[in-house]
Amino acid sequence: MTKRQKAGQKNDKAQRERVRVLITGGRIQRRIQALAQEIRKDFPGEPLHLVSVLKGGVFFLTDLARNIPGEVSFDFIAVSSYGQKTHSSGQVRLTRDLDSSIEGKTVIVVEDILDTGMTLQYLLRLFQQRKPKHLRVAVLLDKPERRIAAVRADYVGFSIPNEFVVGYGLDYAERYRNLPYVGVLLLGPGLKKKPAED
Ligand code: IMP
Ligand code: MG
Repeated sequence: MTKRQKAGQKNDKAQRERVRVLITGGRIQRRIQALAQEIRKDFPGEPLHLVSVLKGGVFFLTDLARNIPGEVSFDFIAVSSYGQKTHSSGQVRLTRDLDSSIEGKTVIVVEDILDTGMTLQYLLRLFQQRKPKHLRVAVLLDKPERRIAAVRADYVGFSIPNEFVVGYGLDYAERYRNLPYVGVLLLGPGLKKKPAED
């Protein structure tokens, strides 16, 4: 394929995708400030250990951490799921474990989005076995309509409708994570919404 053909293909792709802003960067930042205050109020004077799921949760974690007063540490974990179909049946696999023990710590799991809940259910079971002092969950986005597993978050940024969203850590084929806002992904020549279930 010539250079020009390659460039053309890239343009085609860009033309078939658009992102419609759903939550602006300003709203996200204001909501995170409020959540950070709420978390600190619930655990006054306690060191808090934030645990985020790579890679989507990283943006939320860094903004949350900067807004929580007092002592805060953090760590990362990574999981993968065996494709979308098996994902719904709960096949979540640990691909990178935490660096340090969470025993006796006040742990806040920080996730970008709570969708079917399978990922969070897996993580909560895993972490509970490690005997933290407290175990709480903070999610930036919640899609309650999609829930399969019986899990809930203690801190929710925004409840959103059942639409596939990108930005602020969330990706479509690893792209769009860097957007400072959250938007609905529109695909194809007619720019239709991408169905939430793959
Ligand atoms: P769950 O296990 O179904 O709750 O899925 C959680 C993970 O699925 C999130 O951490 C995201 O990586 C991904 N995910 C769920 N919904 C969306 C979405 O609308 N856009 C991008 N990624 C999503
Ligand atoms: Mg994720």
